[in-house]
Amino acid sequence: MLENDLYLKAHRGEQIPRFPVWVMRQAGRILPEYRALRAKLKGFKELVETPHLAAEVTVQPIDRLDVDAAILFSDILVVPDAMGLKYEMVEQIGPFFTETIRSTQDLKKLDQGMDVKDRLSYVFETIRITQLELRNRVPLIGFAGAPWTIFCYMVEGKGSKTFSEAKKMIYSDPVLAHELLNRITEFTIAYMKEQQNSGVDALQLFDSWAGILGKEQYAEFAIPYVKKIAESFLNFPFTVFSKGAYASMPQLATLPCTALGLDWNMEFDDIRDLVGETKTLQGNLDPCLLYADKKTIEKETKKLLESFKSSRHIVNLGHGVYPDVDFEHVQVFINTVKNYETKFA
Ligand code: CP3
Repeated sequence: MLENDLYLKAHRGEQIPRFPVWVMRQAGRILPEYRALRAKLKGFKELVETPHLAAEVTVQPIDRLDVDAAILFSDILVVPDAMGLKYEMVEQIGPFFTETIRSTQDLKKLDQGMDVKDRLSYVFETIRITQLELRNRVPLIGFAGAPWTIFCYMVEGKGSKTFSEAKKMIYSDPVLAHELLNRITEFTIAYMKEQQNSGVDALQLFDSWAGILGKEQYAEFAIPYVKKIAESFLNFPFTVFSKGAYASMPQLATLPCTALGLDWNMEFDDIRDLVGETKTLQGNLDPCLLYADKKTIEKETKKLLESFKSSRHIVNLGHGVYPDVDFEHVQVFINTVKNYETKFA
């Protein structure tokens, strides 16, 4: 039994005395103890691939920030890596893949018949160690990138403002695009199933680059794959976070998941109208609010909490916390949520 299961109760739509809160990208970045550990290692990948260290980083925000959920320290890019496209995390630049998929011929670069359990054993071991170290204090969230976002990295080979190479493929060779999206989807389902078997309490799918597709393209190249994944985890706490996909919300609202993530450009009232009480909504303060003074952070956080008309909420930022934010400001945000009693208990 969990000491604090507010996050899970919110997923199930149960009555709660206060709203649960956690922060996307809370594991790492902002914490001095993360930076100290990271400085001793060769790089990001070494940390991700060393289970006892990744578990330590996962638990750090629980000890320091007292959030209501832990998120596994890993990266969405372990999936393309395990499928055969290796990445490196380049300092100041971000992810970089030496090989990309740009043609049917390139599909040969992907490994065939790989065993998820074997390829990503370090993630599953991290989950097992983390659960021991969490000692049932809060739930542990596992995650993966949504197929469209993983596709973006596999085709583009690196971060991009436009992902025009990835978008080029959906217009110039849609058959290949669907083939690659299918392969990513199958691997992701197997990966998330194994995270579930290893002991995560909930799952989140990050579609970080949803917003670069128009509504029709998102309906064709993203939603069917997200749906297939969500259908594989019925009756399990499952969040879909499609950043920038405001126009696709009517469709996302029909997915068989328990929660939807909102970015800071989305209005809770609009989306509540679409989902009613069938789903929990997560988000959505602008991560840049945390650069403001502490009084402003408190005021804006309370404003958000006051606006909620239902208990089906999990409070978070509208995207990952930025690395140069003072963690004391993050703490003000968290404490404001924790000190606020819902009217729905
Ligand atoms: O939320 C957490 O704290 C858990 C860990 C986590 C990381 N990445 C660790 C990380 C999670 C959930 C992710 C997801 C992720 N990774 C996404 C989806 C969420 C989002 O932010 O949109 C994406 C697009 C990636 C890909 C990625 N990883 C990029 C583009 C970069 C470089 C730029 C950046 O954001 O720092 C990373 C690196 C990364 N992933 C770091 C961390 C802590 C920083 C690297 C370091 O500390 O050296």
